[in-house]
Amino acid sequence: MKYSRIVSTGSYLPPRRLTNADLVAELAAKGVETSDEWIVDRTGIRARHFAAPEVTSSELAYEAALQALSSGGLQPVDIDLIIVATSTPDMVFPSVATILQNKLGITNGCPAFDVQAVCSGFVYALTVADSLIKTSTAKRALVVGAEVFSRILDFKDRTTCVLFGDGAGAVILEASDTPGILASDLHADGRHKDILCVPGTVSGGLVLGDPTLKMDGPAVFKLAVGVLESAARAALTKAGKTDADIDWLIPHQANIRIMQSTTKKLKMSMEKLIVTVDQHGNTSAASIPLALDFAVRSGKVKRGDMLMLEGVGGGFTWGAVLVQY
Ligand code: UT7
Repeated sequence: MKYSRIVSTGSYLPPRRLTNADLVAELAAKGVETSDEWIVDRTGIRARHFAAPEVTSSELAYEAALQALSSGGLQPVDIDLIIVATSTPDMVFPSVATILQNKLGITNGCPAFDVQAVCSGFVYALTVADSLIKTSTAKRALVVGAEVFSRILDFKDRTTCVLFGDGAGAVILEASDTPGILASDLHADGRHKDILCVPGTVSGGLVLGDPTLKMDGPAVFKLAVGVLESAARAALTKAGKTDADIDWLIPHQANIRIMQSTTKKLKMSMEKLIVTVDQHGNTSAASIPLALDFAVRSGKVKRGDMLMLEGVGGGFTWGAVLVQY
């Protein structure tokens, strides 16, 4: 059987880092009251990175991609598929993936497109890349999650603006006779489209509606806890594995309480949960590849380890990918 396996990873956080104390002070100057204590207690977030105003998702994606290429000893020309998961593209079109292709100097005409599944974007993108490799459409894919969520935050809304940050993570997936991605489980339920959304749009040269993020946090929290467990279990079943086979849980980094709850439901020790939300907040589609790259570089994740990657977010969308690293 043919697999796709992760050859290498990379990530990038823009240099401007704001601790909770920095953000609390900035918000206080605007008359918005919050505290380090509230943010840490409710979310586990201690800091986030914000890109400079002129820096776009494709630039963050480019830095993460260069790192993944370098870690894999590869050149841009070795890539024959580019998928970028993002909900904060540089422009309406073309896609961030084609802009990234151009930045990397890839002129081999390989397919490049974006996947928009918000915070589940990376598991969606990884699954699509895996499928395209399995059907021999591609041999080596660059899969990136890149976001500048700071651009779509309402800094007067304390219920959302303390939660998100900017960043990018990348993996290179390659056709292989050895595993590899073992199973994926993806879902969406559009009935919940309003609990996490940016309702505005561009039309007739104007921004129509509100172009900032709206979230019913408690509603998202409640749904997330249930679906993350069911998606992980479905992926395990498809692969003929059980909870006990997972070496590392690498979930979407939105809220430490959601992540801990999933870890408990999967009967895993907290030692096996990869946590980076404290350092970069919720970076939407970038958060899973950022956490994966951290886990690889820190030496936690080793070759052969069984990884459960899982995402959940706006749409409502969710999914899990079981990978032997
Ligand atoms: O990335 C996609 C997936 N997204 C998620 O997974 C996010 C899921 N949701 C969450 O993580 C949590 O629901 C939040 C962190 C967003 C909120 O935590 P919560 O424990 O659900 O708090 P809450 O929304 O129920 O608010 C509790 C209180 C409220 O005050 P009252 O009504 O009890 O007086 C809020 O007004 O906390 C207040 N509050 C704040 N206080 C200080 C809300 N935001 C803040 C804030 N600082 N930044």
